[in-house]
Amino acid sequence: MLNELFQWIVVLLLAVVVSFITVSLVFTIFWGAPFIPTSERKMRRMLEMAVLKKGETFFDLGAGDGRFLVAAAKMGAEAVGIEINPFQVWWCKMRIFLAGAAKKVIPASVVRGDIFKQDLSSADVVTCYLFPAMNKRLEEKLRRELKPGARVVTHLFRFHGWKPVATDEDEKLYLYKV
Ligand SMILES: C[S@@+](CC[C@H](N)C(=O)[O-])C[C@H]1O[C@@H](n2cnc3c(N)ncnc32)[C@H](O)[C@@H]1O
Repeated sequence: MLNELFQWIVVLLLAVVVSFITVSLVFTIFWGAPFIPTSERKMRRMLEMAVLKKGETFFDLGAGDGRFLVAAAKMGAEAVGIEINPFQVWWCKMRIFLAGAAKKVIPASVVRGDIFKQDLSSADVVTCYLFPAMNKRLEEKLRRELKPGARVVTHLFRFHGWKPVATDEDEKLYLYKV
């Protein structure tokens, strides 16, 4: 009897977790971009292209699993992720916690919310891997809010209204300067 109850609880918990993941994935697909991680190699290249320096403020717009936040924080930047998907936010927090727990606490955080409702004016470096329709809206916002000299690196999709200062055509990475 107890054994059967335990099995039902496990099945129920699994069903809740699977539904949560499915709903949050569908949610982000309709919101603009699903979670597809940038490879570690491309991520390093993006941070290298941006010449991210110690003490700078770094934003990853659509933080995914938080890989950029941990890498940027380890380079000495103050890393902030904006992420709309609650499941991804939880993932980012776990990743930051684990990276911080291994040594000292790292300067990385994640905000649950819509990129378009956040103030990005403190950013020195911004990275994003978003669909073209979102990039189009983002171009305007970044132009309005970022300080002169701020760098933006996009993955796969360009900002069509901006002229890149450097490109990596093999990796499909584009660097812009405000
Ligand atoms: C293609 S993934 C990129 C993840 C990470 N930046 C990377 O390169 O590995 C896009 C991420 O943006 C998030 N996203 C989509 N629309 C968003 C919005 N309006 N505001 C905040 N995050 C958003 C998705 O949930 C997803 O995690």
